[in-house]
Amino acid sequence: MTSLRRATLDDVDWLVELLGGAETEPFLGGQAALDRMSVRAQVERSQREPDQAGTMIIEVGGERAGTMKFELVSDVHRIARIGGLAVHPAFRGRGVADDAARQFQRYLIFELGFHRLELACYGFNERAIRHSERVGFVREGTKRRAYLRHGEWQDAVLFGLIREDLEG
Ligand SMILES: CC(C)(COP(=O)(O)OP(=O)(O)OC[C@H]1O[C@@H](n2cnc3c(N)ncnc32)[C@H](O)[C@@H]1OP(=O)(O)O)[C@@H](O)C(=O)NCCC(=O)NCCS
Repeated sequence: MTSLRRATLDDVDWLVELLGGAETEPFLGGQAALDRMSVRAQVERSQREPDQAGTMIIEVGGERAGTMKFELVSDVHRIARIGGLAVHPAFRGRGVADDAARQFQRYLIFELGFHRLELACYGFNERAIRHSERVGFVREGTKRRAYLRHGEWQDAVLFGLIREDLEG
């Protein structure tokens, strides 16, 4: 069973190892702060300002399996940006990210009251693009060759989900 909870300081070392891993880091944003101090600061903020930011732990049968986070983009428009999705390689390929993303969408929209969720994937990250489409994010466009990553200009594929998509 997949479940979601907020990260605590006890999770920081595990998060740093997962996010910095060779099977995860190349797919995350090049500007993402993955060092211990930054991850710790994000976890502290998630606990201090739970309506504005969240660093989550995905658990499978009570064991840590992944992470995802959100940040408030606009209070007026009730927009949150989702990011930092990573499933530990040992748990990939069996729907863990799908289950967790669906739970996260409902938490952000129905519990925290967001109206719109946004996320972006690199154009080369076909697995994350397939996952995003599978869980109902709507492909809204492409920022062409927007970010320098792995020595090349990469597209960013933009996804959005609105409250009405879940109510429909
Ligand atoms: C992207 C990522 C989170 C996806 O995690 P995952 O657990 O493998 O993804 P899902 O839960 O969506 O599982 C998907 C795969 O399992 C397969 N699968 C097997 N059983 C399944 C089930 N019961 N339910 C759903 N999918 C299942 C699917 O067919 C799918 O295969 P595909 O990727 O070839 O299409 C993971 O690959 C990852 O951490 N990548 C590195 C970091 C990254 O890219 N982050 C995203 C940045 S935008």
